[in-house]
Amino acid sequence: PIDGFSFDKDFFNNNPLERHASLDHHNPELVAPLSFLSEYWSTMGDEQRSLAFATAAATLKSLPFAVTTMSQIVDLKGLGSGHCLKVLQETLDTGSCREVVAKRDSDKYKSIKSLTGVYGIGNSVAEKLYTSRNITRVSDIIASWGCLALHDERIKYGVAYYGDLNTPVTREAAERIQGVVRRELDQVAQGCKLELTGGYRRGKSSGHDVDLLVCCGSNDEDGASVSSVRSAGVVGSGGNAGTDGVLARLLRRLRHTGLILHARLDRPPALNEAAYRKQSDRVSSMDNYEKCFCILKCPLQDDWTPDPMDDIQTDLSSLVTSGQNGDRGWRATRVDLVYVPQHQWPYAVLGWSGSKLFLRLLRRYASSTLGLVLTSHGLWSKDRGRLLPANSEQEIFAHLGLTYKHPSQRNF
Ligand code: CTP
Ligand code: MN
Ligand code: MN
Ligand code: MN
Repeated sequence: PIDGFSFDKDFFNNNPLERHASLDHHNPELVAPLSFLSEYWSTMGDEQRSLAFATAAATLKSLPFAVTTMSQIVDLKGLGSGHCLKVLQETLDTGSCREVVAKRDSDKYKSIKSLTGVYGIGNSVAEKLYTSRNITRVSDIIASWGCLALHDERIKYGVAYYGDLNTPVTREAAERIQGVVRRELDQVAQGCKLELTGGYRRGKSSGHDVDLLVCCGSNDEDGASVSSVRSAGVVGSGGNAGTDGVLARLLRRLRHTGLILHARLDRPPALNEAAYRKQSDRVSSMDNYEKCFCILKCPLQDDWTPDPMDDIQTDLSSLVTSGQNGDRGWRATRVDLVYVPQHQWPYAVLGWSGSKLFLRLLRRYASSTLGLVLTSHGLWSKDRGRLLPANSEQEIFAHLGLTYKHPSQRNF
C-alpha cells in the first residue's frame, strides 16, 4: 500500500496494456512536462524520443494515486532512462523544470511549431523553410508565397484557414459535422454506419479533427471488385464494378452542397491479405483504407445551410481573405472520412479510436508476445497467415488475451 492505496506494483510493471489511462488522472502536474517533451520531439522530428516521453507520461497517467515522492515511482516500468526521472524529480522539488522552460521558449521550437501547425506542412518542410528560407511564421509564408514553391496543394488551404484549423474542435462541432455528413450519406446509400472515432470516442471534449468511419453493410466490395472499379478509372469504395463507390459519391454530394473547402482522396493500392500482413510488419499506424482528408465547413448553428453558389476561391490571397471572414456561419474543420468494408469494421474502429500510443503498444504486444500481426484491417498469425475474424472490439481483445478496455481507458 502506498499512502493508503493498495497498488500492485508487480502487476502494473508486468502488464502495461492492462493499465487504465483515463482523461482524468491523479498526476496532471507531473504528466505535463513529459507530455510537453513528447510533443517537443515530435514537432522537432524525433519520433523515437517523442515516443519515449509519451510512454513515460502514460505510465504516470495510469497510476491510481498522486505521486508525492520519487520513491513511489523509481522502479516503475515505462519511465525509461534517468532522463524522465530527472525531469520528474525537479518538477516535484521546484514545481517546474528548467529544460522544459528552455525548450518551450526556444526560437527554433516556436517557429517549427507555428509552421507545422499549417495543414500540409510536416516537420521536414518546416525545418527547410526555417533553416534555408528564414521563415518563422505563417505570415512569412504568405509574404513569400510566390517564391517558396510549396507544391503540396494542402498547404495553401492550411495557410488560408490557419486560425480555424488551430482552434480545437468541440464535441458539439464534431457531432454537427457528423450530422451534415450523415444527411448526405443517406442520400448516397441506405443504412450505412457512420461512426465518430478518434479522441471523441475516448471521451475527449475537443480535438484537432473529426475522424469518421463509413461502412455500408454486407454488399461491400472485396479486394477484387475494388481493383476492377479502379481499373475502370473510377474512384471505388463499395458498390459494383463500373459504378462509383460510396465514398466518391459522398464526396461529390458534399461538394455540390457546398460543404467542402478542400478534399484529398487517398486511394492506396488494392492489397490482398498477404500484402496486408507484409505491410503491417512495419509497426505503423498507416492503413490501406480508401479515405479522404478533408477540410469541411462546420456549421456554427444547427439551422445554417451552405450556399452551393458560393465562389470556391483557389488563389491564396482570396482564400486568405475569405478565410478570415468572422461571421460567415461556418468554421473550417479537418475531417478524416474512411471507408471500411464490413468484415474489417471492428479492427478499423479499434485502430481509429486510438490513442496512437495505445495502438502502438497493442501492436507491439501482439507481435512480440503473441506472434500475431494486428492492423486496422485484421489480426493474423505470422506463420500460417490465418486471419482471426472478429465481430466486435471485445472479440479482438479476447483474441489478444487481454481484458476488454473501454475507449475511455485508452487515453495512453
Ligand atoms: N490513424 C490511423 N491511420 C491514419 C491516421 C490516424 O490509423 N492514417 C489513427 C491514429 O493512430 C489514431 C486515430 O486514428 O489512433 C486518430 O488519429 P488522430 O485524429 O490523429 O488522433 P486523435 O486521437 O483523434 O486526436 P485529436 O483529438 O487530436 O484528433
Ligand atoms: Mn502539419
Ligand atoms: Mn482525431
Ligand atoms: Mn485524424
